[in-house]
Amino acid sequence: MKKLWGGRFEKETAGEMQEFQNSLAFDARLYRQDIRGSIAHARMLGRQGIIDLDEAEQIVRGLEQIREQIAQGLLEFDPEAEDIHSFIEACLVERIGEAGKKLHSARSRNDQVATDLRLYLKDEIEGLAGLLLDLIEALAHRAREHEETIMPGYTHLQRAQPITFAHHLLAYCEMLRRDYARLRDCYKRTDICPLGAGALAGTTFPIDRVYTARKLGFRDIAANTLDAVSDRDFVAEFIFAASLIMTHLSRFSEELVLWSSSEFGFVALDDAYTTGSSIMPQKKNPDAPELVRGKTGRVYGHLTGILTALKGLPLAYNKDLQEDKEAVFDTIDTVRGCLGILVPLVRTLTANEGRMRTAAGGDFTNATDLADYLVWHNVSFRDAHRIAGEAVLYCIQKGKRLEDLSYSEYRNISPFFDSDVFEYISIEACVARRDLPGGPAPAAVAVEIADLTGWLEDIRSFPWSQPAPDDE
Ligand code: ARG
Repeated sequence: MKKLWGGRFEKETAGEMQEFQNSLAFDARLYRQDIRGSIAHARMLGRQGIIDLDEAEQIVRGLEQIREQIAQGLLEFDPEAEDIHSFIEACLVERIGEAGKKLHSARSRNDQVATDLRLYLKDEIEGLAGLLLDLIEALAHRAREHEETIMPGYTHLQRAQPITFAHHLLAYCEMLRRDYARLRDCYKRTDICPLGAGALAGTTFPIDRVYTARKLGFRDIAANTLDAVSDRDFVAEFIFAASLIMTHLSRFSEELVLWSSSEFGFVALDDAYTTGSSIMPQKKNPDAPELVRGKTGRVYGHLTGILTALKGLPLAYNKDLQEDKEAVFDTIDTVRGCLGILVPLVRTLTANEGRMRTAAGGDFTNATDLADYLVWHNVSFRDAHRIAGEAVLYCIQKGKRLEDLSYSEYRNISPFFDSDVFEYISIEACVARRDLPGGPAPAAVAVEIADLTGWLEDIRSFPWSQPAPDDE
């Protein structure tokens, strides 16, 4: 396959150099975007009289044919081609001859590759955001089933205060909602067209940048040609947004691993999303959440990789930028894979309400409420905290729970206790009382779920080309 350059060279490229710089093996993934960009560019060249309309038409038809053949697997990628841009252009010239050689007028691979990657990422960001919504929906659905399921809430992984399972699941919905907003935000800055920036300084031809940007569905054109070809902020932003998604998925996965252990026994993962052991016949392992937790590292790695690749680059394009693509592709594949497995896993897991309730009732999770009770009986919170702590110590010594103490034992601890203390510190009452907005009480989580469901409906029907309702 013929190179796009070579006139000024006296020697052939060395084989190892050819191989070292070649990106076709991975950037072939951009073929659709590359052809889309070239079609828009060719039409613009024709409209502006830079090439004949008839030549533009031949180019467009040739490119459409190439796209069709690649899609059907009829066109093999020639490893001799340097990258997807060279490959498609060489194929075009092979097919339509002279007119094909005119496609690259007023363009460089530098603005071309930046355009391709932005087009590609826009679609993928939207796709990933849709998967995020699927996970939020699955969690919200399970939350609705478990508005009244009591579980222990933890700090320091020590039982702290009783909450509802719904409340715990809804916490993840909030993280994922922020992730969704971050994707939308980074989409806005990805949605800018660099085409026309040429190699770095634009072109002397009378091109129409706004026309190509519109044709390609970009919301605006890049304001500075040097920035247009050297900017990969949108890549870094996307991988950061993906990293935080992975952080959240990994935390959730860690909890699923803990919860599905015999020690917790809060949930059972469906057989379809677990695996067995080659030696221990009894094992059922939570491989799916373990893999999600494990794959988080590679996305963080890509973030470090792209930031490091960018930090020392002089303006404008440098070949270092070719390193952006594998990072983007692997990030997309990883996040997509993780969301894709967690959605059905959440839909099919079984919650063990009995185990959760038993755990919630242990370890004095109602001790804060015992102190609060005294506050209502005119004891300062500091004193109430000490008295409740003494009650806990007494229980530990006697091997009892706070609700097992007798009325006279309570009176011995403090004269401020009355007979209504028992009702006050029942675990159900402790949860129900926390019905503040955003709280764990069944009444509060019901409101939160209703709000979330409304948000999901609004957001799903909102087009990406316009600002989201909660955008600034
Ligand atoms: N394969 C290259 C990349 O991914 C395309 C741009 C090449 N530009 C250049 N001036 N050699 O960055």
